[in-house]
Amino acid sequence: MPTSAFDRLKPLLGTPAEIEDGYLDLLGAADQAGPPTGLTQRLMRTTVLPRVYERYWRPALGRALKGPLGPGMAGEIRLATQLLDLQPGHTVLDVACGTGRFTRAFGAAVGPDGLAVGLDGARTMLAKAVAEGGPDTVVYLRADAVHLPFNESTMDGVCCFAALHMFAEPETALDSFARVLKPGGRIVLLTSARRAWQPARLIESAGGIVSGQKMFDRGEIAASLRARGFTGITERYAGVTQIVAGRLGRAPRIVGGGG
Ligand SMILES: C[S@@+](CC[C@H](N)C(=O)[O-])C[C@H]1O[C@@H](n2cnc3c(N)ncnc32)[C@H](O)[C@@H]1O
Repeated sequence: MPTSAFDRLKPLLGTPAEIEDGYLDLLGAADQAGPPTGLTQRLMRTTVLPRVYERYWRPALGRALKGPLGPGMAGEIRLATQLLDLQPGHTVLDVACGTGRFTRAFGAAVGPDGLAVGLDGARTMLAKAVAEGGPDTVVYLRADAVHLPFNESTMDGVCCFAALHMFAEPETALDSFARVLKPGGRIVLLTSARRAWQPARLIESAGGIVSGQKMFDRGEIAASLRARGFTGITERYAGVTQIVAGRLGRAPRIVGGGG
């Protein structure tokens, strides 16, 4: 009998978990993963946002933040898949997957022998992701993105788009991402990037404070990855966003205080 994606996910986890509403739930009664970080994170847990997220919210907000020259949604997904160098049979983790648009594409890229895991803290987002369906190789998990529940060296690729700036401890999250990657595994991140020019920087920093999101500096994420043992790092900037990718060397170095 062929094993289900859930059967293949469970041995990768450090703790046992039950399937609830189509996804594995490691957070139980807790409404959210980790400490609250503000307005944007709260919006993600509403019932309305997941309904309009993929079609309207994410493309419109993404365009506003990336500017006219940044990639569209299809371009982002293509770029993420390429930068992760996904191959048939790979195991890939989509951290803060939201409604699973990237997870579904990764599931198709890794083929029937691979596994694409979408992890998010919001029940409402995961309910929509499950309802969207997708390849049999896709599976969803409710857990904290900052302290990933996976065993060490279990993933060939880790993607985290549009979320790192929302986490209470982004540096700890980066440690966690490095810890779960196999040696040679690839990472790709899309997050905030404020400009160096002082007036723009002030406005962008204020926007970050109001929305409860951290504004990273240009070059900051690349430096954080380098410090953790990533090599071949590439950076792409568009508007107030950055897409940073790299490949883990032989073993991760823990920098931010734990995984
Ligand atoms: C803007 S969405 C990004 C979704 C998708 N990656 C994309 O690019 O469209 C951010 C997601 O991060 C999730 N999130 C925020 N903090 C989290 C945490 N500490 N653990 C798990 N998920 C978290 C939210 O629930 C939300 O679904």
